[in-house]
Amino acid sequence: MLLELDKINVYYEKKTPVFGAPQKLHALKDVSLSVEKGEIVTIVGESGCGKTTLGKVITGLLKPASGKIAFNGIDVYSCMPWDYKKYRAAVQFVQQDSYAALNPARTIYQSLYYPIRKRLGMRRDLKEKIGDLLRLVELTPPEQFLKKYPHQLSGGQRQRVLLARALSMSPELIVADEPISMIDVSLRFAMLELFRRLNRELGITIIYITHDLSTARCVAQNGRMYVMYFGECVECGRTEDILSKPRHPYTQALLTAVPVPDPHIEKHKPEPPLRSLEAAHDGEGCCFKQRCLYADEACGQGKIGYCEEDGRIVLCRKAKELPQWDIANLIK
Ligand SMILES: Nc1ncnc2c1ncn2[C@@H]1O[C@H](COP(=O)(O)OP(=O)(O)OP(=O)(O)O)[C@@H](O)[C@H]1O
Ligand SMILES: [Mg+2]
Repeated sequence: MLLELDKINVYYEKKTPVFGAPQKLHALKDVSLSVEKGEIVTIVGESGCGKTTLGKVITGLLKPASGKIAFNGIDVYSCMPWDYKKYRAAVQFVQQDSYAALNPARTIYQSLYYPIRKRLGMRRDLKEKIGDLLRLVELTPPEQFLKKYPHQLSGGQRQRVLLARALSMSPELIVADEPISMIDVSLRFAMLELFRRLNRELGITIIYITHDLSTARCVAQNGRMYVMYFGECVECGRTEDILSKPRHPYTQALLTAVPVPDPHIEKHKPEPPLRSLEAAHDGEGCCFKQRCLYADEACGQGKIGYCEEDGRIVLCRKAKELPQWDIANLIK
């Protein structure tokens, strides 16, 4: 196993009025996740469910309050400093906001030069290496981009520079956080294809974070998917299985919320199993109980355990008795 997260918990301090005890926001609740070498895994869920927080935990940018992270079988928070250094280089994060992630006062050459010099040391062929990186992310000819500043590039080109910077560390795993959300729709497919090519040709493992189920399917058709809700992982399984036979009521609601261009399919798609559209969760019991059509009194008590069947993991105590969905054609 390349990466294993076990029961990760993250808290943020909430801004409170001047008086009163500081409140805590439980951003990740007992999240467990595992990724095999060479896999493409997607993490999906609505805004604020904790996707970026999970991405930061995976890449070591945020230390969880509790839980274990193992990379190549080594616990990253109790290992030797050189193993930790290796892990930080081998796991790279491509941020959502490419504008904020690049120093506006540095040219693209400078942005790539410092990390690559740090890794390889002072060498004569660093400029060539930077050119190779830019070619790898399809910014060609590289000479056209080296002297430019981030504001002189388009959103898509900036994302590719970020990806080139991540690749300069020769990573084993790249966590891409909504890498196409700021890119023009017409250019999105090319960016997604680039991630797939890096996975296929260089064997780089990819964790793709998104709220968009159709791009998740496009990137990780043969991979696995984790569905998150309110800081918890509510469903996990093969991408195709989850998109065609969602088991958790939240996944079902998420899938029915995607507009379908085909009016025939749109007309016949099932109703979302919701009794309320308001997202609220008071801590006890299931995180989805207020909105779930099937929730009963027992769903509001104690801790809900995972139900596992045929490689599918669902955080729902009624997972086995709920109506089975088969909506293979809904998400293209
Ligand atoms: N630095 C922070 N301080 C306090 N609260 C934070 C901080 N970062 C995130 N949060 C809160 O933690 C929760 C999870 O945030 P996160 O950014 O991980 O969500 P997300 O799923 O990535 O959302 P989006 O899809 O909008 O990017 C949110 O309620 C957010 O407001
Ligand atoms: Mg985010």
